[in-house]
Amino acid sequence: MPTAALANSLADVRRAVIARLRMAGVDTPALDANVLIGHVLGITPEQVVLRSDAELGHEDLRAIEAAAQRRERREPVAYITGTKAFRRLEISVNRDVLIPRPETELLVEVGLDLWDASPGARAVDVGTGSGAIALALAAERPGRWVLGTDCSPAALRVAAGNAKCLRLAERVRLCLTDGAAGVNLRGAVVLANLPYISSAELSTLQPEISCWEPGAAVIAGTDDLSVIRKVVAQAGRGKARAAAFEIGLGQAESVAALLIGAGFGRTAAHRDLAGHPRVVTGTRVS
Ligand SMILES: C[S@@+](CC[C@H](N)C(=O)[O-])C[C@H]1O[C@@H](n2cnc3c(N)ncnc32)[C@H](O)[C@@H]1O
Repeated sequence: MPTAALANSLADVRRAVIARLRMAGVDTPALDANVLIGHVLGITPEQVVLRSDAELGHEDLRAIEAAAQRRERREPVAYITGTKAFRRLEISVNRDVLIPRPETELLVEVGLDLWDASPGARAVDVGTGSGAIALALAAERPGRWVLGTDCSPAALRVAAGNAKCLRLAERVRLCLTDGAAGVNLRGAVVLANLPYISSAELSTLQPEISCWEPGAAVIAGTDDLSVIRKVVAQAGRGKARAAAFEIGLGQAESVAALLIGAGFGRTAAHRDLAGHPRVVTGTRVS
């Protein structure tokens, strides 16, 4: 039932959208309704709740209806609004890139510590996607530069657009390659949030991920660690000083073992807010 046919006070429209998203199986119907309606009206999600008496015009109702229909089909909110907050940045996203996750902010934090401990080292974000990690590093360490790689030309176009909009293009270079192939990694700090889910797990994912996000950004193949394994080996052969990988549940020990095998003598696991090991680091000792 179209929202426009139901009501035109903001409170009524909001209620109707929440009910529809709940029916569609969306986990956070009220939050998503507030964000989507706020996006259409150019106000914050909090204002959507506060301005309940506002009357909406025909154009706004039509735009809210279109956004609600997309979300009912389980399209992620960030693809509908075209943007996602990450650290201090607003990152533009589309279906060519994974939507940056809050968990990945931990990888940036850990990466900044490794980078600060290596003055003069370059940082390399392997599998940069939207550029979120590389851009956050550059934004938070003015004067230093970062290389982002990806095997997807479409993803690199999104990253380049973000770098330009955020005025970081001077310090965030981008490179199309497989992992970090061809990149000089000597002394570098390598950070990577690569696909770490096996194809067998695809059916267990929420439709927002399995139906909408790029498969090559999420699925590693039949072996969940195949892409991480390749990049750990590249970092080892290339004599990177340190490397940090975002991981999935139960992968910490295996990734630490890969890092040790690649010559990183000291490893550590870093836990996310839920207490799960989420980032594994390896540092060369000598
Ligand atoms: C999980 S997404 C992460 C994107 C971004 N770093 C983030 O954290 O939001 C993984 C990214 O790695 C890229 N990727 C997958 N396999 C790759 C490979 N062999 N070499 C380079 N990039 C790869 C994908 O295209 C995708 O952009």
